[in-house]
Amino acid sequence: MSLYSTHVLPVLTHLAMRSKVAAAERARWIPLAADMVLEIGVGSGLNVPFYGPHVSKLYALEPCAELRRMAAPRAERAEFPVEFLAASAEAIPLPAASVAWVVTTWTLCTIGNPGAALQEFQCVLRPEGRVVFVEHGRSPDPKVLR
Ligand SMILES: C[S@@+](CC[C@H](N)C(=O)[O-])C[C@H]1O[C@@H](n2cnc3c(N)ncnc32)[C@H](O)[C@@H]1O
Repeated sequence: MSLYSTHVLPVLTHLAMRSKVAAAERARWIPLAADMVLEIGVGSGLNVPFYGPHVSKLYALEPCAELRRMAAPRAERAEFPVEFLAASAEAIPLPAASVAWVVTTWTLCTIGNPGAALQEFQCVLRPEGRVVFVEHGRSPDPKVLR
């Protein structure tokens, strides 16, 4: 792995994701999640302060070690336990039907095999489980859109 991908890209990701527009979407959607929650691609942990009081535990899945390190202070300040999972969304290391909510914000677009990730969401979610899904809009560029 290059220095760019291990250290520069995580900082750029954090800076890009701190926008006011993103914060407004976080404030709108993240408080819906409750009980056992799995966040996919937690990044630098910018969603963590937006979770409400009904979260019993947050599994914070993030494949990038530097982003997990950057998210750690926010996880320590949370009023619920946060367990980091150093894993990919295409192979989630949790038992079937073990979480009530899956949360993904601006992450599905970066996952190599989003179809496999969605199957994993279905597997780890309880039958009555719900998903918070926030993503970019459709690109006007046909190549990007595809
Ligand atoms: C644009 S960032 C969004 C970060 C965070 N969700 C947020 O809202 O600030 C995309 C995130 O997806 C993560 N990611 C990339 N590939 C992934 C994969 N295969 N499985 C899970 N997360 C992945 C990246 O490491 C990064 O944290």
